[in-house]
Amino acid sequence: MKQVTMGDFYAPENMRDPIAFSTRLRERQEPLIHLDNVYGMGGGWVVLGYHDAVEILKDPRFIKDMRKFSSRPEPPDTGINDFLAWWMAMPNMILVDPPDHTRLRKLVSKAFTPRMIEGLRSRIQQIADELLDAVQDKGKMDLIADFAFPLPITVILEMLGVPTTDRDQFRAWTEGLAAVGMDPQQEQAAIAALDAFIRYLKKFLAYKREHPGNDLTSGMLQARDQGDTLSENELLSTIWLLITAGHKTTVNLLGNGVLALLQHPEQWRLLQADPALLPIAIEELLRYAGPIIFAKRFASEDLCLHGQNIHKGELVLIDLVAANADPKQFPTFDKLDITREENQHLAFGKGIHHCLGAPLARLEGQVALGTLLRRLPQLRPTIELEQLAWTYDGLRGLVSLPVAF
Ligand code: HEM
Repeated sequence: MKQVTMGDFYAPENMRDPIAFSTRLRERQEPLIHLDNVYGMGGGWVVLGYHDAVEILKDPRFIKDMRKFSSRPEPPDTGINDFLAWWMAMPNMILVDPPDHTRLRKLVSKAFTPRMIEGLRSRIQQIADELLDAVQDKGKMDLIADFAFPLPITVILEMLGVPTTDRDQFRAWTEGLAAVGMDPQQEQAAIAALDAFIRYLKKFLAYKREHPGNDLTSGMLQARDQGDTLSENELLSTIWLLITAGHKTTVNLLGNGVLALLQHPEQWRLLQADPALLPIAIEELLRYAGPIIFAKRFASEDLCLHGQNIHKGELVLIDLVAANADPKQFPTFDKLDITREENQHLAFGKGIHHCLGAPLARLEGQVALGTLLRRLPQLRPTIELEQLAWTYDGLRGLVSLPVAF
C-alpha cells in the first residue's frame, strides 16, 4: 500500500474533497498513520477516528510545548534569525501547557464569552453590509478578497484597537508566515514577514501605552503594568495569535461554507427559505467544510496507542476533518445536511485548548452568511469549481472564489 505523506493532505484534489480523502485513509484499516516528515520536524502520527481524537485532546499526556523536547537557544534580542527559536521564546496560549496556558488564556478569555461577543452583532452586521455595498453595483466579486477576508480581520483588529487601515499588511504577513514548515524555500520570506510583524506590534504597543483605549490590548497592557505575570514577549505573541487565529480560520469558514452551499443548491435554497436554520447550518458547515485539518500535540512520555508505540517527543496530528467524517459518530458523514441536529463536531477542537474564538467565529459566520443569502440570493460561481485554487498554508481554504449575483 502506498505510503501516505504530508503532501497528500494538502494535494489540491484532496483539498477539494477532504471527506473522500479521509474515507480512503480510513479504508486502510490503520487507526494511526505514520508520516516520515511532518512540517520538516521529523516523523509523526496521524489519528483519524473521532473517539481517539476526543480522548487525545482531553489527555494531559499529549502536550503542546515543544520546548520540553528541544535545547535550541533563545534568540538574541537584536533580531530574529531563527524562526523556531523565536517561536519557542514567544509563548502564547496555543503553544504551552498548564499552568502557563491557564494564566495566558485567562487574561483574554473574558472578552470572548458568548455574552461579550453578542454585543458585537450590530457592528459585524454593519461591516458585512458595507462590504456588500461596495460591490453591489458591479454584480460580481471575489468572495474571499472582497468579503470573507475583510470581515473577520476588521472585527479582530477593532477588538484589539489596531488600525484597520493596515489590514492588507496583516494579510500579507500572515500569508508569508503560513509558509513555514510547509515550504522550506519560503523560510526566509516567512522570517522577514515575522520580523516586520513583530516590529509593527512593538510600535503599536508603545503607542497604546501612551494612548490607552477601551480595547483588548489596553486591557492586557494594564494587567501587565499592574504586576500581572505577563512578559513582553507573551504580550506580543498573544496579540499576534489573536490576529492570525482570529481571521484566517473564519475567512476559510466563509469561503468553504459558501462553496459547499453553492455545490448543494437545494441546501442554499432551504437556508434562504428558513434563516432560523443559520445557527445549526454553521455547525454543519464547520463539520463538513471545516478550515482546520490538524490539531497538533506531542507525546510527553512513551505511550502505546492501538498497539503502536509512540515515543516521547513525537508529534501526534489529530485529523479533525477525518474525525468530523467518522461514520461511527456521523452515520451520514458524507452528506451536507444543514438541518443536522446531533452535531458534536470537533472543528473547534476539544479540551483545554478548545477554540477561544468559537463564539466570535459562530457569530461572524451567521451574520455573514445570513447577509449573503438575503442580499445576494442569486449568488453563483463564475469559475468551474474544479479550477479553484486552494491555499498551501496548513489550513483548508480557497485562494479566491469569483462569484456573480
Ligand atoms: C484554538 C479552530 C476562529 C482564537 C483553536 C483550535 C481549533 C480552532 C481547532 C484548537 C487547536 C488545538 O487544539 O491545537 C477555529 C476555527 C475557527 C476559529 C475552525 C473559525 C471558523 C477563531 C477566532 C479566534 C480564535 C475568530 C479569535 C480570536 C483561537 C485561540 C485559540 C484557538 C486564541 C487557542 C486556544 C488555547 O490554546 O487555549 N481554534 N478557530 N479562533 N482559537 Fe480558534
